[in-house]
Amino acid sequence: MKKLLLIALFLNLSVLAFSQSISTAQKVDELIKQMTIEEKVGQLTQYSGKWDATGPISIKHNTQKEIISGQIGSMLNVLGSTYTRQYQELAMQSRLKIPLLFAQDVIHGFKTTFPIPLAEAASWDLKAMERSARIAATEAAASGTHWTFAPMVDISRDPRWGRVMEGAGEDTYLGSKIAYARVKGFQGNKIGDLDAVLACAKHFAAYGAAIGGRDYNSVDMSERLLWETYLPPFKATVDAGVSTFMNSFNDLNGIPATGNSYLQRDILKGKWGFSGFIVSDWGSIREMVAHGFVKNSKEAAFAAIMAGSDMDMESSAYIRYLAQLVEEKRVPIDIIDEAVRRVLTLKFELGLFDDPFRFSHPEREKKTLNNPEHAAFAREMAAKSIVLLKNENQLLPLSKKTKTIAVIGPMAKLKRANHGFWAINLKNIDSTYIVSQWEGLQNKIGENTNLLYARGCDIDSQNREDFAEAVETAKKADVVIVTIGERWNMSGEAKSRSNIHLPGVQEELLQALSATGKPIVVLINAGRPLVFNWTTDNIPAILYTWWLGSEAGNAIADVLFGDVNPSAKLPMSFPRSEGQIPIYYNHYSTGRPAWNDSSTNYVTAYIDSKNSPKFPFGFGLSYTNYTYSDLSLSKPQMNNSETIEVSFTLTNSGKTTGEEIVQLYLRDKFGSLVRPVKELKDFKKVLLNPGESQKISFTIDNEMLKFYHSNLDFKSETGDFDIMIGASSADIRLKESFELVN
Ligand code: BGC
Repeated sequence: MKKLLLIALFLNLSVLAFSQSISTAQKVDELIKQMTIEEKVGQLTQYSGKWDATGPISIKHNTQKEIISGQIGSMLNVLGSTYTRQYQELAMQSRLKIPLLFAQDVIHGFKTTFPIPLAEAASWDLKAMERSARIAATEAAASGTHWTFAPMVDISRDPRWGRVMEGAGEDTYLGSKIAYARVKGFQGNKIGDLDAVLACAKHFAAYGAAIGGRDYNSVDMSERLLWETYLPPFKATVDAGVSTFMNSFNDLNGIPATGNSYLQRDILKGKWGFSGFIVSDWGSIREMVAHGFVKNSKEAAFAAIMAGSDMDMESSAYIRYLAQLVEEKRVPIDIIDEAVRRVLTLKFELGLFDDPFRFSHPEREKKTLNNPEHAAFAREMAAKSIVLLKNENQLLPLSKKTKTIAVIGPMAKLKRANHGFWAINLKNIDSTYIVSQWEGLQNKIGENTNLLYARGCDIDSQNREDFAEAVETAKKADVVIVTIGERWNMSGEAKSRSNIHLPGVQEELLQALSATGKPIVVLINAGRPLVFNWTTDNIPAILYTWWLGSEAGNAIADVLFGDVNPSAKLPMSFPRSEGQIPIYYNHYSTGRPAWNDSSTNYVTAYIDSKNSPKFPFGFGLSYTNYTYSDLSLSKPQMNNSETIEVSFTLTNSGKTTGEEIVQLYLRDKFGSLVRPVKELKDFKKVLLNPGESQKISFTIDNEMLKFYHSNLDFKSETGDFDIMIGASSADIRLKESFELVN
């Protein structure tokens, strides 16, 4: 007996010493040696638990069996500490006790919701976006989630595509900075901390360039465009240490991304040295059959694993066919082991082998989800994301002494609408914590202000019955706030629209209200750039309020009454009509450029529309004004190992403290390949008191001047460059030139 105890003690001690001294790589290799091929494939299989997870007995019988037999490595849509624990307990009954990895689409917040990512992008505030991702990760991790399917870093120049709401807009430079910040936010100090989740850069690659803006559609583009515009944000996530990637539904130049070895093996795992794993998109392995790329699911599994897709989300193709494919010697076991190694490494890094339940603690969950600091920051973030598009005669901010305010429109009392398409948790947590716009205004006004309400119309019906009541309500008010836009499910996945005008009769309602002669402020709530020309041309004050999350109402009230001075700028161009799409500021120069909106004859232009967008990339007003002056360059020439300092003075020439986002654009005037008319290369967000001036500097270095050549060499070319400093891509205030010499 004593001998046995001694042996047991020795074994325990050696296990301990083993776990402390050997590296994660060794632990992973040891584990892989013990695994059967079925267990290995299990680690590469992910299923959704959404419709099952209503309690312990409701975990589908099959799923239970599969988890216990080691055939599932990861679950998505299993929410909360209780359910994740129940699932994990099943995994602990499996032969090797390999913990499950719980994934979730934590896109813009978990319980506390932040503005949709496109709205946050309008803040250009990288620290703030990092913080919002940090808070989302903290809440998710406290609820048992290990892994978020975010950030989406797809560049898109097409507002018909409903998923623009999930990204950072049209610009590669801004998008790359935001991608980096979001990964840092989600992953925190290090994977393994209890407030960090694995981030996932998606959708690799070029998903945002779906032809015609139709979701899931094919993408056909040059290598130059791919490398110059669509890949850099993904590379930025690798630089930020992102743990996982998701591939995409689209084919790229004929090869589905999921079966695309050039993207996954050559670029991501090869050239960029990415050491995490790649998950397929939902069913995208199986969908290669519908693409006509492979003839059945078995061939799809073969194509995907060989191309470097490590984990199969919801296709069941890996679990059904990979073992067979290995047996038939079509897939080398090393390929499987390599994928398994990537998955297990992250499970070790998360600390799940030490304690598989470490993220599933109800007490910590409760405390974290109800942290009032999170709501306070969501309010700040939401206010930072609101774009002031028009403010004639300084109608805004509204005076807190206003006697009667009418609040009209279908969005006023809605809660869900502020959340957007990807908000999670609504089923599990009651929505009383969402502040509607009506409630936000009520919270803000003083005793002497009277708030009136009329709904006016639906979001997207043709019913005008309530117009009359709305008009009567408006007549009683000193100022009218009209809140209109898209319903939560009009932008998002599979929500492409060919008509992106304000839906239904909402703009007609505005026309009826405008006829009262009352001053009107419009709030436009949407998940994408919309077209609303009549509104822009006729209504004096417009705030683009996107979908702002759980503190939407308070944040909107903060901006309406001037407690926050709006500072956001558009991360996408807003077209005048759908016919202008794709529309983006950094287009190439043509041989017949339209110099301005009135030149239409035999130049690159439409005969029935201006070329310019209704609102350009980088545009956004403030309650104050800024003047730009005294541009100077440290020298007129540089070689490629030198830098040039560009400086100028920014002055707050108005009467309100505010933050201006100053933008630096460059143009390579002549190149061996035609270059864009301008490209954002840097920006700063500067806080200034009324009358205050500050000297702002940017450093120009050779990296900023490089571009991809036909053989994909990334290098600069000597010659002349324009420097443009502006308040938007179309509002260049200062301009100079310099030369790059040998
Ligand atoms: C989406 C992904 C998402 C996944 C899991 C897919 O349909 O394209 O972005 O992460 O579903 O919910």
